[in-house]
Amino acid sequence: MIIATTIAEVRQQVQQWKQAGLSVGLVPTMGYLHAGHASLVDRAVTLCDRVVVSDFVNPTQFGPNEDLAAYPCDFEGDCALLDAHGCDMVFHPSVSEMYPDGNGKTDTYVTMVDDMPRQLCGKTRPIHFRGVCTVVAKLFNIVTPDKAFFGEKDAQQLAIIRRMVRDLSYGVEIVGCPIVREADGLAMSSRNTYLTAPERQAALILSQTVVLGKERVAAGEKDADRLVAQMKANIASEPLAEIDYVAAVDGVTMQSVHTLTKGTLVAMAVRFGKARLLDNFTVEE
Ligand code: PAF
Repeated sequence: MIIATTIAEVRQQVQQWKQAGLSVGLVPTMGYLHAGHASLVDRAVTLCDRVVVSDFVNPTQFGPNEDLAAYPCDFEGDCALLDAHGCDMVFHPSVSEMYPDGNGKTDTYVTMVDDMPRQLCGKTRPIHFRGVCTVVAKLFNIVTPDKAFFGEKDAQQLAIIRRMVRDLSYGVEIVGCPIVREADGLAMSSRNTYLTAPERQAALILSQTVVLGKERVAAGEKDADRLVAQMKANIASEPLAEIDYVAAVDGVTMQSVHTLTKGTLVAMAVRFGKARLLDNFTVEE
């Protein structure tokens, strides 16, 4: 597996692959990889001839009081996982390689005029999706992948990137991959590492609430407001859980809906101590 730290190295290698007629997949990550990331790499290996994984904690998507400094990293562990899953090149740039202006800032951002990035997570993380779109656009320009792979746990991120690709005419196919869960149901996240033992136990309320929500929908619930209220009450039964949001939105536009239909995204963000965790499901029928 090639370890590249500069944009020039990545460009040169990708160019060689493309000249040889090989397709290229990109899995953007912030490192501290787990089985959820591995599932994205596995999917990319199945669908593409060569797979690039970016491993970069992107400063522009963190707000001033967020966990940038504390964000966990283990590049050696990441490389071992990536190698074992058939990644061809890991791109691990420095902050100054990605943001040459210094201090992890840039004069040019990709921002969305529509209010999609201001819904859900955007209500408490106002600059987050500007940073995500900017770094993902840069990675698309550097790697020029045929396909890029993102997890459905970050459902709003996935919807925003699909919209950015459409609006800016990127020739990249976006592949969404299902949430991967621990044996007891907790959705995998690098931020699970912040949980203390009691918080780790309490966080099970998230996946239990997803199951409850799915059961209510399967039983015929069509009223989004009632479903959200039931899910909120369930989460509130856990004393260590602090709800950021539970919402039912259109899965493409992220706008609130009152009726549950096929494609409605039911998403939540809940804090347990220092960890803010996400989970969601999409209404299928
Ligand atoms: O989902 C993530 O880990 C990040 O938001 C991403 C897409 C790698 C951009 O930094």
